[in-house]
Amino acid sequence: MKPLITFVGLILALTAVPGQAEPIVIKFSHVVAEDTPKGKGALLFKRLVEERLPGQVSVEVYPGSTLYGDANELEALSNNDVQLLAPSLAKFERYSKQLQVFDLPFLFDDLEAVNRFQKRSKGRQLLRSMEKANITGLAYWHNGMKQLSATKPMYLPSDASGLSFRIQPSAVLESQFTQVGASTRKIAFGEVFSALQSGTVQGAENPWSNIYSQKMHSVQPYITETNHGVLDYMLVSNTRFWFSIPHQIRTELEGIIDEVTYEVNRAAEEANQTDRARILKAGTSEIIELNPEQREAWREAMRPVWQQFESVIGEDIIKAAQAVNRKQRN
Ligand code: LMR
Repeated sequence: MKPLITFVGLILALTAVPGQAEPIVIKFSHVVAEDTPKGKGALLFKRLVEERLPGQVSVEVYPGSTLYGDANELEALSNNDVQLLAPSLAKFERYSKQLQVFDLPFLFDDLEAVNRFQKRSKGRQLLRSMEKANITGLAYWHNGMKQLSATKPMYLPSDASGLSFRIQPSAVLESQFTQVGASTRKIAFGEVFSALQSGTVQGAENPWSNIYSQKMHSVQPYITETNHGVLDYMLVSNTRFWFSIPHQIRTELEGIIDEVTYEVNRAAEEANQTDRARILKAGTSEIIELNPEQREAWREAMRPVWQQFESVIGEDIIKAAQAVNRKQRN
């Protein structure tokens, strides 16, 4: 009898209970630490989904490049091996040239300006700019303005000359450093700390939260507070997957995303300022504040990048982005 009982048990275990559908599984992979704007956003999304859609949707969060890293996460999304990502806007170059507007140096005065652009029609349109590649943009999430770190003090653009900087995979960022006589290496985020530590590159650019959470400050004795560009994210899903979710559940998920987006974007600037203070307290790096003339010199040096990429990105998009600044410049 024993083999028969085992066989019946196996059949029962393999038979789905009628009416009890398996939950939809959303794997959310990202490359940063959990205690960062994106890391916290992913966890909040998981919590709210599991509170409001119990048994219907389950969320698995994989932080710190533990499931996929920069090199393969978008490919994994396209294969539906992962269902949510929030890569930085610099990482979509292959799929949307227009999104490179976010990498232009000194385009946005501050994060508030970035926020305004993302909410206006051109910014909203860009969420749909990768539909042909089966990528749907669901929201913009802030991290913050980028700072320049290096092994030597940098007050003026000429101080960066001859150094090698780690960059994200973006031609705009490559050109930005070329303008100041520096060279660049495209390195996945998960490998930046060791590249800085070993001296493969001497500098990098990142918001305070990434510098602190990756301990980059421990190997970068100087950080110049340039606020020269933005590092923000687009929360994206695989289009076919997203629109295969039953309407009612998808609507609930979209409501949750709105709530999480509000919270991530509300808290990001403060989180960056907290990490700036932590870096100061750690005493490993000198934070160099630029006077207006020095900052203007960086702006002037990097400004030719706009012209260079105008036809690639679109003049209308650059103009719309410029228009969100409160201070008027040419
Ligand atoms: C970087 O590669 O520096 C950032 O895009 C990492 C991140 O996701 O914040």
